[in-house]
Amino acid sequence: MIYLRPKPGLIVLLAGALFPLLLVLGAQKGTGQEKAVRAATAKPAQEWTAKSHDKTNFPLIGKHRTLTCRECHVNNVFEGTPTDCEVCHWQRRQDDRYGLRLGTRCSDCHNPMSWKKVDPAKWSHEAEAGFRLEGVHRTLDCEACHGSGGFAPRPTACAACHLNDYNGTADPDHRAAGFPLDCTECHGNSANGWTGASFIHDFPIQSGKHAGLACSECHRTSDFRSFSCLECHEQTATNDKHSRTTGYAYSSPACYACHPKGAH
Ligand code: HEC
Ligand code: HEC
Ligand code: HEC
Ligand code: HEC
Ligand code: HEC
Ligand code: HEC
Ligand code: HEC
Ligand code: HEC
Ligand code: HEC
Repeated sequence: MIYLRPKPGLIVLLAGALFPLLLVLGAQKGTGQEKAVRAATAKPAQEWTAKSHDKTNFPLIGKHRTLTCRECHVNNVFEGTPTDCEVCHWQRRQDDRYGLRLGTRCSDCHNPMSWKKVDPAKWSHEAEAGFRLEGVHRTLDCEACHGSGGFAPRPTACAACHLNDYNGTADPDHRAAGFPLDCTECHGNSANGWTGASFIHDFPIQSGKHAGLACSECHRTSDFRSFSCLECHEQTATNDKHSRTTGYAYSSPACYACHPKGAH
């Protein structure tokens, strides 16, 4: 009973309860320890076992506390039960979703609370690989980027993985517009979504009278070098506004030349 090390009060209680059992079991063969263990586990109360288990080198924490004894003590063998996570979670049952590709020492990264939560202090993609997983990237399975073969380094440039997205854009059509392949220039690093891009556009479209307009309001074709001001600024009304302006012409390049900031 030394290895259970209960509180003095408990010793009295346990001794009282176990003594008759020890006498009975003493007749069977086995070490004194085994007998004591057998005696102890013959007790039906689960609270006892979980609590007194905390005195072993392997306190039952997290999910382990909810298991039945037999799940770890196969065939009710208590002695020599492995404490190494890998023995139970890989040799006995292949629990590692990544098949040891991240290493065999599960406890370097995990604890018995859950496989899902990996404490960033123990393992973080940024510290380990130099590439921070943010936004949608954080929610992905590792395989989404690494495939099923292993954790070989992947290119970090957005376009390396998102060229199809770039080629598939319709509004604005990035290819036709000749947008640079460095997505971060307009989309940032956060990978939260493709909407809400910010980019430098000399003619103000994020503030002023022209804020929030669809690109296609001015860029009537997929060639973003061409634009039109005339759809909204009707000829008669616009001409009237310029009755005293020399050099006025009703054409988009002329409008832009005199109103490069969309104001007057
Ligand atoms: C998650 C796995 C797990 C569960 C569940 C578990 N145990 Fe254990 N148990 C262990 C491990 C590992 C050891 C070895 C600890 C050590 O080496 O100190 C151990 C040791 C013991 C020992 C001491 C054996 C010795 O050699 O000294 C007893 C007694 C014991 N467990 C009883 C129980 C009982 C009763 C239950 C059910 C309430 C239980 N255990 C549930 C893993 C478990
Ligand atoms: C170097 C760190 C590291 C080691 C060592 C490691 N893992 Fe993991 N494991 C991770 C990371 C990171 C994840 C992914 C967690 C996530 O999705 O954020 C993971 C995920 C898992 C998952 C899937 C969780 C889920 O539900 O998606 C299981 C199961 C798992 N590990 C079991 C093991 C086992 C068993 C071992 C030991 C044989 C082990 N791991 C060793 C880092 C590690
Ligand atoms: C003596 C065997 C044994 C040892 C040692 C052991 N485990 Fe377990 N563990 C189990 C068993 C059995 C389960 C229940 C598995 C199940 O039902 O999916 C379990 C469950 C878990 C779960 C919960 C799985 C789930 O589906 O929610 C996690 C997480 C876990 N163990 C992590 C660890 C870590 C980390 C270590 C090492 C520190 C470890 N285990 C050591 C036997 C063991
Ligand atoms: C959004 C894509 C993406 C996701 C999701 C992702 N990774 Fe990575 N991973 C990368 C990139 C990119 C690199 C290369 C970084 C570098 O070389 O600077 C990398 C590198 C690594 C490396 C280092 C490889 C080496 O040999 O240097 C490991 C290990 C790794 N990732 C594990 C994981 C695990 C585990 C997960 C799941 C929890 C995961 N990755 C999810 C993109 C991703
Ligand atoms: C190693 C591959 C890889 C790299 C590098 C990468 N991504 Fe991703 N990204 C993915 C995968 C896989 C997804 C999930 C599938 C999808 O939506 O395309 C994703 C999803 C996204 C999403 C969400 C798309 C949606 O529909 O919600 C955005 C936004 C995104 N990435 C932006 C970026 C940006 C910006 C960069 C550069 C800083 C980048 N990604 C670098 C692989 C990568
Ligand atoms: C010059 C700026 C700029 C660059 C560089 C850029 N984008 Fe965009 N992107 C935008 C703007 C502006 C939008 C529209 C945003 C909105 O609707 O809120 C957009 C929208 C998108 C959309 C959604 C629109 C659709 O039709 O599906 C995707 C997908 C996208 N970008 C992918 C990319 C990828 C991938 C890259 C890098 C390879 C990239 N973008 C580079 C400015 C840019
Ligand atoms: C109110 C009219 C207007 C709207 C709306 C507008 N643009 Fe423009 N755009 C212009 C004008 C004027 C120019 C020429 C001056 C400049 O470069 O800012 C231009 C130039 C551009 C150029 C540079 C073409 C080149 O290579 O010279 C790109 C790319 C572009 N716009 C993309 C967009 C995108 C993407 C949107 C939607 C998010 C958008 N524009 C919305 C008026 C507009
Ligand atoms: C999608 C419709 C639309 C397009 C296209 C458009 N505008 Fe406007 N613009 C407006 C509206 C609406 C106002 C505010 C009402 C007004 O002053 O007529 C405005 C106002 C203006 C003003 C007066 C600003 C002020 O501060 O009073 C100027 C100058 C102007 N636009 C120039 C242009 C130029 C140059 C172009 C082409 C590059 C253009 N607009 C394209 C809708 C448009
Ligand atoms: C030669 C330069 C020039 C050209 C070309 C020109 N404008 Fe103007 N615009 C002006 C000046 C100067 C004013 C101020 C007139 C005034 O207040 O008497 C003005 C006034 C305006 C106003 C009225 C602003 C207000 O406060 O009501 C609008 C709208 C406008 N222009 C739009 C346009 C559009 C659209 C075009 C192209 C069809 C255009 N302009 C072409 C110089 C120009």
